[in-house]
Amino acid sequence: MRSSAIWSTAFAALAHTAAAVTGAAEGFAKGVTGGGNATPVYPKTTAELVSYLGDSEPRVIMLDRTFDFTGTEGTATETGCAPWGTGSGCQLALNKNDWCTREQPNAPKVSITYDKAGILGITVKSNKSLIGVGNKGVIKGKGIRMVSGTSNVIIQNIHITNLNPQYVWGGDAITLDNTEMIWIDHVTTSLIGRQHVVLGNNPSGRVTISNSKFDGQTSWSATCNTYHYWGLYFTGSNDMITFKNNLITHMSGRSPKVAGNTLLHAVNNYWYDSKGHNFELDAGAMVLVEGSVFQNVEAPLQSGGAGRLFASSGTASACAPYLGRVCQANGFGSSGSLSGSDTSFLQYFQNKNIAGATDYNTAKNVLDTAGFGTI
Ligand SMILES: *[C@@H]1O[C@H](CO)[C@@H](O)[C@H](O)[C@H]1NC(C)=O
Repeated sequence: MRSSAIWSTAFAALAHTAAAVTGAAEGFAKGVTGGGNATPVYPKTTAELVSYLGDSEPRVIMLDRTFDFTGTEGTATETGCAPWGTGSGCQLALNKNDWCTREQPNAPKVSITYDKAGILGITVKSNKSLIGVGNKGVIKGKGIRMVSGTSNVIIQNIHITNLNPQYVWGGDAITLDNTEMIWIDHVTTSLIGRQHVVLGNNPSGRVTISNSKFDGQTSWSATCNTYHYWGLYFTGSNDMITFKNNLITHMSGRSPKVAGNTLLHAVNNYWYDSKGHNFELDAGAMVLVEGSVFQNVEAPLQSGGAGRLFASSGTASACAPYLGRVCQANGFGSSGSLSGSDTSFLQYFQNKNIAGATDYNTAKNVLDTAGFGTI
């Protein structure tokens, strides 16, 4: 008994001093340090987690359990709408900012009871690392939110899930708006009401999103077919996003939508099993897609969009002067096409930190490596 107690104390000490962050950010957020060498803290309650994330200390915050926010702010019952019908597989919508009244005046009105905690994410301040332990770091019923000048944050190896998935506007998993140097890595998002990731209209400079899994499987979809419509929304006024080694699966739209003035480098991702479209490009989007695979994807690109897209069908030397290397071709299996030959914006990659790219055949490795619980 005595020696095993000594051993577990020794292991606990080891576990608590181990380097918290695994690897380092590639691409635009290269150099991000988060909470740096701060002594790791292990919150035990939702209140402690909120406090550590929201205070002004640099922190390394380790998640070794599920933090269940459902019920922590109570429920509300309001009149919303049913734009896609009241079938059991369809999402209903909250009347947030009068959305139903303005955008869906003819939709049937419905009474909706939702969990209030899901609506607004936990505020994450500057100089934080939020790191899951093994496959234990789960935040349920509330997302996270970096806004108003927050900088230097690492989010790694956590799962954000169950944000009023029945309801549009029920909650966003990860929100960035007016940020600098944010790295989101090995994160899984599932069962989200609105966006899995949203970069709002204010600038979010130098973001890297890597090794993450955006899982659109749901019983409540705006397209009423188990495929989530509101995936990734990148519309900031001056955003730079590296998006590498991610798995984007079971979506029916906006994964991503890109607009504003967003420079997006999408590399070695695996878009898998989508109905409807993935990329929706509006004016201002500048999107380079390389080394990625679209497998069982109906429409990699929504037709009739705007913006600038470079997605080469072969190895592209047009990238070399700006990225310092050729760009990789994309691959397609049982999928629609994605092609773009606009090179006019590649100059904006010059003198930036650029993620490497490998042949698209390596992209499907992310089926095994993306998301939380694999590092
Ligand atoms: C974050 O850390 C940097 C480097 O230590 C420091 O200069 C900065 O003031 C910190 N930011 C905040 C908001 O605490």
